[in-house]
Amino acid sequence: MKYFIDSANVEKIKAVIEYFPVAGVTTNPTIISREKAEFLPLIKEIRDVTNGLTLFVQVTAEDAENMIDEARRIFKTLGGDICIKIPATKEGLKAIKLLSSEGISTTATAVYSVQQALLCAAAGAEYVAPYLSHIDNMGIDSAEAAGQMAQLFKEHFPKTHVLAASFRVAEQINRAILAGVDAVTLAPEMFDTLISSKMTENEIDSFRKNWSGVYGEKNVKDFI
Ligand code: E4P
Repeated sequence: MKYFIDSANVEKIKAVIEYFPVAGVTTNPTIISREKAEFLPLIKEIRDVTNGLTLFVQVTAEDAENMIDEARRIFKTLGGDICIKIPATKEGLKAIKLLSSEGISTTATAVYSVQQALLCAAAGAEYVAPYLSHIDNMGIDSAEAAGQMAQLFKEHFPKTHVLAASFRVAEQINRAILAGVDAVTLAPEMFDTLISSKMTENEIDSFRKNWSGVYGEKNVKDFI
C-alpha cells in the first residue's frame, strides 16, 4: 500500500515528505492551476523536491497524438521517476497503449467505472485512478467499485494498480484500503488529520505527569 500527496504546492509537499512515508506526488491541471505559477518552473521545482519519489504529471491535450507528444516532452524534460496521467477516454486509451509500448509509465485518471478501469489496464496503464468522492456522489458505492477494480486487476492485469483519488473524509480512505486498493493519493491536510488523535495527546500528558512526578524535568537523554 502506497501513499501519495495530491498537491502542487511546493511548501505543503515538502512539509508532508519531511514527516510522512509517501511514495510520491500526484498533480493534475486543476491542482497545478491553483498555484497560479508558471507551469515549467513549478513542475521542475516539484521534481526537485520529489527526487527519488514518483511524480505524476497530467497531459492537457485531448487527442491521442497530442497526448503522446506532451507525455514524451514531460518524460524527457523532467526525468526521474515519472508517471504520465492520461484521462480515461477513447483517445486516452490509444495514448496509453502507445506510451506503454515505449516504456513510458501511465496512470489512467478520472476513472468512473470498472469497465473504464479494465480497458485502461488492458491498454497497459501502470495505475488506474478512480475518483471516489465523485463516484459516491453518483450514488455508487465507490469503495465497492474500487475493490472490484483491484480484484479484477489481480486476476487479469497484475501489472496495473488501483490508485484511489478524491477523498473527502477518513472513512472513505479506510473503506477503499479495506476493499483492496494499492495506493491512495491525499491532500496534504489529510495526512495531519489521519495521524492526529486527541486520545494520543491525552496519553502523552499522562506519561509526562507520571514521569515528572519521579524524575522531575529531566528527560531520557539526561540519563543515558
Ligand atoms: C487525483 O489525482 C486527483 O487530483 C484528485 O484526487 C481529484 O480529486 P478532487 O478534485 O475531487 O479533489
